[in-house]
Amino acid sequence: METVLSGIRSTGNLHLGNYFGAVRNFVKMQENNHCFFFIADYHSLTTYPAPEDLHNSVRTVLSEYLACGIDPEKSAIFVQSDVREIPELYLLLNMNAYVGELERTTSFKDKIRTQPDNVNAGLLTYPVLMAADILIHKANKVPVGKDQEQNLEMARKFAKRFNFMYKTEYFPEPMPYNFGEELVKVPGLDGTGKMGKTAGNGIYLIDDAATIRKKVMRAVTDSGPTVENQTPTEPIQNLFTLLKLVSSTDTSDFFENQYKNCSIRYGDLKKQLAEDIILFTAPIREKILEINADKEYLRKTARVGAEKARESASKTLEDVRRIIGFKTF
Ligand code: TRP
Repeated sequence: METVLSGIRSTGNLHLGNYFGAVRNFVKMQENNHCFFFIADYHSLTTYPAPEDLHNSVRTVLSEYLACGIDPEKSAIFVQSDVREIPELYLLLNMNAYVGELERTTSFKDKIRTQPDNVNAGLLTYPVLMAADILIHKANKVPVGKDQEQNLEMARKFAKRFNFMYKTEYFPEPMPYNFGEELVKVPGLDGTGKMGKTAGNGIYLIDDAATIRKKVMRAVTDSGPTVENQTPTEPIQNLFTLLKLVSSTDTSDFFENQYKNCSIRYGDLKKQLAEDIILFTAPIREKILEINADKEYLRKTARVGAEKARESASKTLEDVRRIIGFKTF
């Protein structure tokens, strides 16, 4: 069995793009791997969240992942800041991370551009903290999106460097977890590109029926097909893609055929799409609300997760300290 570690940003609610693009696969991944899922709340400090928001966003993310099917009995789901071994490994790894290579990472360069008034050292060493998250569990596989590939590469670099410096094979090189064919790109409602956090482009699992109807009815379309069997334009193809994810094959075939013979009415398509999204998300939404209101369950889950994570983390840290040469009198 492989050890898989999945880091979750502690900001924002999950939208359908996150669900079909990642979270649904995480649920399957935990069946045949030794999985760690954690909420990266230390990382979030690089953007200075208000103290009253810090915990709430962790709670939201935890509730949503649990509602989607991350199973705390099969996996370890924990909050990063509950595992104090992570910052110690981070400190140790920092000694062998070079300022030059950190400055050259694209995520750092992006951040300098987006927050020029707050270029803190946490941003510079973000990849080191991420490497500590991964290496503390000696993870073999890490599911990452395109934007995190370079950070994962840095984690491999730090693992190899540690092994080389101390003439050991201690850390495995963490590789990307590959979902293969199952990776779905979910389009947004604004006519172009992926579903994301842009206003109006996404549907959140927590959205209620009225919100979903409103968003879908406002989705960008075009002026309609003019010749039979024409290839749909991007906004229309996007609606068909969404329909395929949440509706029955009959329903999506029905509208695609109507498009082909030019009899389609986008209003009808949208109404159907909205209702099918609602049917799909309603049980998840209910679960999110239920879990989010159950403080005792959240407390217990986070505690059990942290215990599992600390068991693995403290063992690694002990080994690392010994390899480096620390000794107690
Ligand atoms: N940087 C990741 C993101 O922004 C979150 C993250 C933090 C992470 N630590 C990690 C992901 C460790 C994978 C492994 O999405």
